[in-house]
Amino acid sequence: MQSNDNAGAAAGQWSSRFAFLMAAIGSSVGLGNIWKFPYMIGTGGGSAFMLVYLICVLAVGLPILIAELTLGRMGRQGPIETLVDLGRRYSGRATWGLVGCVGVLAAVLILSFYSVVAGWSLAYIPKLLTGQMSGLSGAETGKAFNDFLADPLALTFWHALFMLLTIIPVARGIQSGIEKAVVWMMPLLFSLLVVLCIYAGIEGDFTAGMVYLFKPDFGAVTWDVVLAATGQAFFSLSIGLGTMLAYGAYLPGGVSIPRTSVVIVFAAILTAVLAGAAIFPIVFANGLNPSEGPGLVFVTLTVAFGAMPGGAIFGTVFFVLLAIAALTSSVSLLEPIVAAFAGRVRLSRSALAWIGGIVAWVLGFLTLFSFNIWSDVHPLGGTRTWFDWIDFLTSNILLPLGGVMLALFAGWVVTRQDSVAAVGFESPFFYSLWRILVRVVAPIGVVAAVVSNFF
Ligand code: PHE
Repeated sequence: MQSNDNAGAAAGQWSSRFAFLMAAIGSSVGLGNIWKFPYMIGTGGGSAFMLVYLICVLAVGLPILIAELTLGRMGRQGPIETLVDLGRRYSGRATWGLVGCVGVLAAVLILSFYSVVAGWSLAYIPKLLTGQMSGLSGAETGKAFNDFLADPLALTFWHALFMLLTIIPVARGIQSGIEKAVVWMMPLLFSLLVVLCIYAGIEGDFTAGMVYLFKPDFGAVTWDVVLAATGQAFFSLSIGLGTMLAYGAYLPGGVSIPRTSVVIVFAAILTAVLAGAAIFPIVFANGLNPSEGPGLVFVTLTVAFGAMPGGAIFGTVFFVLLAIAALTSSVSLLEPIVAAFAGRVRLSRSALAWIGGIVAWVLGFLTLFSFNIWSDVHPLGGTRTWFDWIDFLTSNILLPLGGVMLALFAGWVVTRQDSVAAVGFESPFFYSLWRILVRVVAPIGVVAAVVSNFF
């Protein structure tokens, strides 16, 4: 995609398959894989969660990712317009556009908390760089994190800074900057995760960590775990809300969507597993609590950085890369919001990016305060804070159901003839497999997981 001031029509295209791949991997690999996945494993039953997650990603996530990119490339417009047009073409109904509208709502809500948490990683850059985290015990890094969360003003500053960093490239047209950055930063992030895994293997309780992550524990697979893992599969692949529809719209015709999707899924799984393998050995060696929640990455890795030689440097680099991984994801949350409105309203791309970003930023205070002054506020009763609700609603309800609608659309509404050509499988066998997955398996599986939650 070239930078253009008119984002509505997909005026541009990715400059190459590689550029698209990096942007799509950049979108999927982010806080979801490095921050959220480990703590969800911790709170959601260890290896049981891992197992269900892997099944969901492969049997449900991958086929839906393929469907979403395909629909995006067929429509070549903003997410809502694409669904309105394709809906008219294949079913005579424009109401499919509603799926796009719900997706935009989900994008705003996710961006609101994403920016708060990404702000934490920005804040950790100077904390590590100045060495103030060196040599701390697990209990001490835990306390440092809690003290940080207790300070709404500091959080507001980092939240604002991160949102600003998100708005600027989107306002400009994301390509020039983002494409160039992700090409070398993503590989560096992977390498650093590998270094951390090695460190965890030597200094941490590697066996306990591996057992926790990988020893199959079918008994622990409950409906709660299934729903949480399903939600995480959608969240970590950035599917179900229109991000991949928007990115697919800029995809050149010759690029193989199935192959590309396999690479994206593989990268998402690899990062998540590496993050888990880096974190849990450290958790167990330091007597930390695996179900400690959203602070897990910040507390555990800080212990590791504080103890290893050159840890201040490694730690700084790690949080820089984490912030960048988050940025390539947050940009992909703001992009579909902008693309959805561009062309419908008389505002420039840049104005839309600012408005979308500011709305999400303001909403972000629901999350920001959930960690301090509103930590005891439980809207709708129960134990969930505002952050918990927004996270639950988006990951566990809106994305899965949005993804199912896209799967049904690609599988049942688009004609077989057109979908064969549009998806572009080389083998008829894989095409048929994909079609069964999007028509039957994914919808039934996901709806069962979501509905089970209400009983
Ligand atoms: N996939 C991103 C992550 O794992 C989050 C995201 C979700 C980005 C949905 C875009 C759309 O961090």
